Amino acid sequence: MEKIITLNDVTKEFKVLNRKEGLRGSIKDLFSRDYNIVRAVCNISMEVSRGEIVGYLGPNGAGKSTTIKMMTGVLEPTSGEILVNGMVPYIKRTQNAQNIGVVFGQRSQLWWALPVIESFNILKDIYQVSDRNYSDMMELYTSLVDIEDILHKPVRQLSLGQRTLSDILAAFLHNPSTVFLDEPTIGLDVSMKGKIRKLVKALNKEKNTTVILTTHDMGDVDALCRRIVIIDKGSLLYDNDIENLKGFFGSYRTVKVRLGREAEELTKENLKRLANELQQKLLDTHPEVNSLTAISNESWIDVLVHEDEIDIMKVVNSIQEHYKIYDLKLEEISTESVIRKIYEGEMQ
Ligand SMILES: Nc1ncnc2c1ncn2[C@@H]1O[C@H](COP(=O)(O)OP(=O)(O)O)[C@@H](O)[C@H]1O
Ligand SMILES: [Mg+2]
Repeated sequence: MEKIITLNDVTKEFKVLNRKEGLRGSIKDLFSRDYNIVRAVCNISMEVSRGEIVGYLGPNGAGKSTTIKMMTGVLEPTSGEILVNGMVPYIKRTQNAQNIGVVFGQRSQLWWALPVIESFNILKDIYQVSDRNYSDMMELYTSLVDIEDILHKPVRQLSLGQRTLSDILAAFLHNPSTVFLDEPTIGLDVSMKGKIRKLVKALNKEKNTTVILTTHDMGDVDALCRRIVIIDKGSLLYDNDIENLKGFFGSYRTVKVRLGREAEELTKENLKRLANELQQKLLDTHPEVNSLTAISNESWIDVLVHEDEIDIMKVVNSIQEHYKIYDLKLEEISTESVIRKIYEGEMQ
């Protein structure tokens, strides 16, 4: 299969000034060169083929956006090689831009004061899209989403969802080989998320566009990605089919409990606190087990149990020693809980 993106041992370091406190400190900063090196991306290698949708996942600060910025040519890697469409992105920035589209969630690339259609016209000129290709694309867009309402409104009058939708359409407009979507559904309501997933899926299928997607929303991942790449603290943790994820992380199961009738009325924060408290109690009771994790989930608390380490009934008994269990379910671990566990920094 045609390789669209290749990363070979890519590392990105940032030099950040070690700031000193107060005015005296600021003056000292002017003279001393006291730097810290932050390794945002650490020896990452991967290849992406034409037409793939890759979920690029990891906790906050893992290095996802930094990787995307390197692939789009905004940042130069400290070491290692990147090829996108056969070019080194930061050297051939302009040419690379012809072949990619980018959406950074919540930061629009469209002209604020202009109606969306005007922005599209400008992009058509910038990317030298032929009249024919442009009208074909607009026809495709019209068949996929209801854009009539949006097209003639200035961007600043659009809702966040409409703006994101417009941004995505803008990113695909010149039919690039690859589109990078960095947290595109952040802050959107469920129905808008659904629309955006459908749109991205359809465009990927129709145009065979490669999509690199970062998101915190497992619904996005489930709807769009067969392959996921997980990074943590800059390093690659997992790169495979989403189906293999469970096998990779071992035989986990989830004990879902509802502690007391009031659970439904607890605020998110209080439920989270209760989950933390439960986790601490379980860890105190079973100091030999280090994989027990309790996470609040809707009105439930999910306790992840690694069955190679401890029997599931032992865990249930221990919960019962400390709390009245109002309701209980056992589940195979879901992809979502595996990833949430990683996101919460529990998986080392
Ligand atoms: N321009 C920068 N200067 C210094 N540090 C940065 C810069 N950009 C990102 N970082 C640091 O690099 C790490 C990875 O950041 P980022 O790629 O934004 O993570 P993610 O998108 O996965 O949340 C973080 O520790 C962040 O603070
Ligand atoms: Mg980011």
